[in-house]
Amino acid sequence: MKNRYAIILAAGKGSRMKSSLYKVLHPVAGKPMVEHVIEQIEAVKVDEIVTIVGFGAEMVKEQLGDRSKYALQTEQLGTGHAVLATADLLKAKNGTTLVICGDTPLLTAETLEELINHHEAIGAKATILSAIAKDASGYGRIVRNAENHVEKIVEHKDASEEELRINEFNTGTYCFDNAFLFESLTQVGNDNAQGEYYLPDVISILKQQGDIVSAYIMDSEEESMGINDRVALAKANQLMTARINENHMKNGVTFLDPSTTYIESDVVIGQDTVIEPGVMLRGKTVIGDNCFITANSDISNSHIGNNVVIKSSTLNQAVVKDGADVGPYAHLRPNADIHENAHIGNFVEIKKATIGEGTKVGHLTYVGDATLGKDINVGCGTVFVNYDGKNKFHTIVEDHSFIGSGTNLVGPVTLGRNSAIAAGSTITKDVPEDALGIARGRQSNLEGYAKKMPYNE
Ligand code: UD1
Ligand code: CA
Repeated sequence: MKNRYAIILAAGKGSRMKSSLYKVLHPVAGKPMVEHVIEQIEAVKVDEIVTIVGFGAEMVKEQLGDRSKYALQTEQLGTGHAVLATADLLKAKNGTTLVICGDTPLLTAETLEELINHHEAIGAKATILSAIAKDASGYGRIVRNAENHVEKIVEHKDASEEELRINEFNTGTYCFDNAFLFESLTQVGNDNAQGEYYLPDVISILKQQGDIVSAYIMDSEEESMGINDRVALAKANQLMTARINENHMKNGVTFLDPSTTYIESDVVIGQDTVIEPGVMLRGKTVIGDNCFITANSDISNSHIGNNVVIKSSTLNQAVVKDGADVGPYAHLRPNADIHENAHIGNFVEIKKATIGEGTKVGHLTYVGDATLGKDINVGCGTVFVNYDGKNKFHTIVEDHSFIGSGTNLVGPVTLGRNSAIAAGSTITKDVPEDALGIARGRQSNLEGYAKKMPYNE
């Protein structure tokens, strides 16, 4: 096998996105476009990747890290000019060079592999990855001669009436014989509608000097999509979502309506889990087997075990262990750690707190900065008072305790094993094991007084 190199074009600003975020950093299914591109290149195994950066260079470098080398294109004078910026790193090498745009996130490693194989099999000096579209507007068109051989690529803005009717287009991905690429790039001019040095011009230069150039037509127009504006971005998100959801379905996940379920690329879901419409699963979320995630749940970077039910709730950086259930309308914030078979009910917010096995926090409760043991019952409307406006305080509740409704636990405080708290108490001191803590005003009834209330006057 020849040495293989890859160049990612990522120096453009992406003016058509109308955004302060550089184009290749816009996420598709939760991941920057350029990240999708490099992952697919990594999967075809190349000896070296060079990314051309310009606008947002530092941010692109931060995203890709040391998986790529970088060439800086200080002025964006066109895709051909961009590739020349890699000359110091690549020019002297021998082998096959894959060039791919940072704005084609849907391209798969399989297609790249097919392109490289085709290119090497026919001994071409350049092979364009092309596709057929009903409407190829905006793309460069592949112009073929009478023998159906590739002659050149003409950009939309430079095309004649007749050329505009061509529906085979340049996907912006190519394979080159490396030496021929750099040699012909020096001959590319900028006498065209955009005044840019076009990489596609290399094709006609090689053709005219008698070298073999070819186009490998891929069979999915969708996969080849280049993202230039927000309309295309939304379309790419839909296509990527459909692809991701289909993979989960093939792995045994049930979707009631996959078209309304958004799952980011890195999410893992176990077999026999059922997902209802409107669910968002983001980041590094992992969901186990046989879970039930109901409508409109929004789960980010969380770890959910097996046989868990999440009803219409929001989770971020939370852990929910086997057999637990959450919601409806619960909010689990960072470091909420819900142990096996615990129950978190409606309108409960949990932050930086461990809820022990079998413990129930059923209704309208805030638990922050706390450690709760096993089999505890937390009554409705309990507040773990953890913050004095400056410092956070930790509360401990030991196994088998019972907290009556409407309780304030003012941290730091510890409730011992088997303790109980009377409803409506504001607890500021530790409660020993087996004790009942009660801290509330005594009731007195004023006979007949209700009649004197202002509303009875
Ligand atoms: C390009 C192709 C077109 C093809 C289309 C496929 C050219 C001249 N045209 O057009 O034939 O059909 O892709 O999607 O190549 N970039 C740089 N430096 C520059 C200019 C661009 O790094 O000076 C990068 C951009 O960041 C982007 C990529 O190159 O990732 C493509 O540039 P873009 O402006 O999107 O080209 P298109 O007009 O889409
Ligand atoms: Ca583009």
